Amino acid sequence: MIPAHGGKLVNRVLDEKARAQALASAQGLARIVLSSREMSDLDMIACGALSPLEGFMGQADYESVVKKMRLANGTVWPIPITLSATEEEAKQYGIGSDVLLTDPAGIPLAILHLKEKYTYDWQIEAQHVYKTVEEAHPGVAVIKNQGKIYLAGPIDLLNRVTYTDFLEFRKDPVELRQLFTEKKWRRVVGFQTRNPIHRAHEYLTKSALEICDGLLIHPLVGETKSDDIPADVRMECYQVLMKNYYPSSRVMLAVNPAAMRYAGPREAVFHALIRKNYGCTHFIVGRDHAGVGNYYGTFDAHFIFDEFQPDEIGITPLFFDHTFFCRKCGEMASNKTCPHEPADRVSLSGTKVRELLSQGELPPPEFSRPEVARILIKSMKA
Ligand code: ADX
Repeated sequence: MIPAHGGKLVNRVLDEKARAQALASAQGLARIVLSSREMSDLDMIACGALSPLEGFMGQADYESVVKKMRLANGTVWPIPITLSATEEEAKQYGIGSDVLLTDPAGIPLAILHLKEKYTYDWQIEAQHVYKTVEEAHPGVAVIKNQGKIYLAGPIDLLNRVTYTDFLEFRKDPVELRQLFTEKKWRRVVGFQTRNPIHRAHEYLTKSALEICDGLLIHPLVGETKSDDIPADVRMECYQVLMKNYYPSSRVMLAVNPAAMRYAGPREAVFHALIRKNYGCTHFIVGRDHAGVGNYYGTFDAHFIFDEFQPDEIGITPLFFDHTFFCRKCGEMASNKTCPHEPADRVSLSGTKVRELLSQGELPPPEFSRPEVARILIKSMKA
């Protein structure tokens, strides 16, 4: 089994006894109510999905991650994982004290052992991580508008975040690793997506499966921008597709609770490391991975992996060129494998697809399986 990033799968979920003690002493603690992104980061730290992180980043790690894509000890890490507070709020929390982290309903989630409070420059973070300081970028908007102090320290989890959706598909790294072992999958390819799976995605996943033992379809269901297709609709699409077009013995569906950052190339590395923690050995990186607008080059998410040694990443990226159905080839292909003209290829813009679906029309079957398109049409009518 592939080792977790940094060598050891982190577990910051308190056992029953420690949890009872911590809950009893939590009553008088100062509190912080977490945002949805902070909650998913917290839950993922606790179950090891963000190994080797054991809490929210201190200043040395943060600055090194922003500027060098590495933790202070040199381990590759491309995205800051931070907990923000306003200056006013931060005054209530003393360094060296414990702080109770809760969800918006007040349910205690974790104890933060507060080690540091520090200021940061959101523009420097934005420029390095997102390659822009424009607020139109959804990742930049978050850091520009959050509190100006970062609170840092290890966490101990009291309660898992109370999700009400996709419960049967919420699997921790330990659980997925166990399932892969039971299935005797040695080479497992992970597929990140925040969209319904259309034919191009299907082609990537099946091409990858040709050289692996198993495929983990691992859609991101944490916070996404408002015009992305909601996760519940997508989950319906994935299930109907798997039922009709994938061999059930080779494919598994589980959800990635992370919030989407839209950090393009850096997020591709982040997505790969997360899937390594979940036990995948390979990871698909296609065209404009985790991109938004025109902030990144189409294949920047491939090139970024050249900045690291393969053993520093551990999981093997599988890079795919732009894929499509070619009428002359009579099959799915990519820029790498198809010699024909763009006019021979079935290519539809997102706007065109939305237009068709909103009129109740199925896009061509070379673009999307009809079963998937019907779910999207139904969701648009609802
Ligand atoms: S992402 O934000 O999760 O990257 P999306 O769900 O659209 O967005 O993409 C999932 C994966 O499929 C990414 O690795 C992306 O690069 C890849 N991908 C999507 N469409 C294509 C395509 N037509 N050709 C090649 N790769 C693609």
